[in-house]
Amino acid sequence: MKILLLGSGAREHALARALVADPATTELVVVPGNPGIAEIATTFKADPSSASDVTALAAEMGAELVVVGPEAPLVAGVADALREAGIPVFGPGAKAARLEGSKAFAKEVMAAAGVPTAEAAVCSTFAEFDAALDRFGAPHVVKDDGLAAGKGVVVTSDRNEALAHGLACLAREGGRVLVEDYLDGPEISLFCVCDGATVVPLAPAQDYKRLGDGDAGPNTGGMGSYSPLTWAPQDLTEQVVTTIAQPVVDEMARRGATFIGLLYCGLALTGQGLRVVEFNVRFGDPETQAVLARLTSPLAGLLHAAATGRLHEAPAPTWSDDAAVDVVLAAPGYPGEVDRGGRITGVGQAQAVPGVHVLHAGTGRDYRGRLIATGGRVLSVVATGQSVAAARARAYEAIGLIHLDGAQVRTDIAADR
Ligand code: GLY
Repeated sequence: MKILLLGSGAREHALARALVADPATTELVVVPGNPGIAEIATTFKADPSSASDVTALAAEMGAELVVVGPEAPLVAGVADALREAGIPVFGPGAKAARLEGSKAFAKEVMAAAGVPTAEAAVCSTFAEFDAALDRFGAPHVVKDDGLAAGKGVVVTSDRNEALAHGLACLAREGGRVLVEDYLDGPEISLFCVCDGATVVPLAPAQDYKRLGDGDAGPNTGGMGSYSPLTWAPQDLTEQVVTTIAQPVVDEMARRGATFIGLLYCGLALTGQGLRVVEFNVRFGDPETQAVLARLTSPLAGLLHAAATGRLHEAPAPTWSDDAAVDVVLAAPGYPGEVDRGGRITGVGQAQAVPGVHVLHAGTGRDYRGRLIATGGRVLSVVATGQSVAAARARAYEAIGLIHLDGAQVRTDIAADR
């Protein structure tokens, strides 16, 4: 099978690794990819959000499957253009991608499908927003309605901080902001592969969104992850599929917005039961790095079955009993203004630690071909082991061998799990 994969992060490096491990894969092209992906697949510089460029490339290479990594191409309608050209694609069309692109739309779908989530007020004016902050009280949960590259959500007890974030969201053209009830309890990410009707869950994972140890500091795209969640209820996956993913997929079909792709269920396990925190319409980053490290069945066949409406016929994914832990190495300045260009050394030594592989994200090569940091999250160091603690020890041993001046690494990923 010839596959085109869109994206350039560690999530796409993990996807590329799993796709090339599937014997059904005969060719993998990644747009635009990164230096790590270039070691295992063909990379090609093009804009993954350009529907015309992606469709032309997919047609030229004879792609039998296109897998879309990030959300931006989905919201931009790249999957629609590919489907119109008759090319199977794993990723929802723009109408279904609104589940991530508009938090107000996601709330509307959940209400219609009877899916449990936090109560929310959707505000279009300052007066509505100000009143909602008073009505819901602290801690304030303020969410940008639209896509915000991981910077859309602020949870704070400081009313001024909540006000500032909400005002910034409202200031954008057509801007809306949601104020929600605070959901107390551990967060869980469960990815569901969907073909518009059938839902196949992957293994649950947990990510660490804040920059600093102990969940201190600003929100980031994610600083680490692990799987499995040995502390979670035994029937967690079944509960999520039955009460959340399947009703949402059915409701989307009823609306004529068939959901084909990855439904990322971001959940809180509250005292009152599971509640949806958010939906995303693509694989999560950094959870994918840990989840796919445990996958023992072919990925390309599964995603192709979803893209072609045959998920009910596909063998269920299988999982290693081993645990996986992913620790992210971020550049100085992240998640603010990032210092780029720093030399990265020690990746080879890190990969020599048993059970470890290193995935690239914000990396590039300098004029001498040496590895440098080019983005916020630079590397994901993934380790497997017989327990979460064993995997964690290997991940930290390996990341300790990598050097980047000013690198930021949380030291408590998967601690006490
Ligand atoms: N791990 C959070 C995300 O992928 O959005």
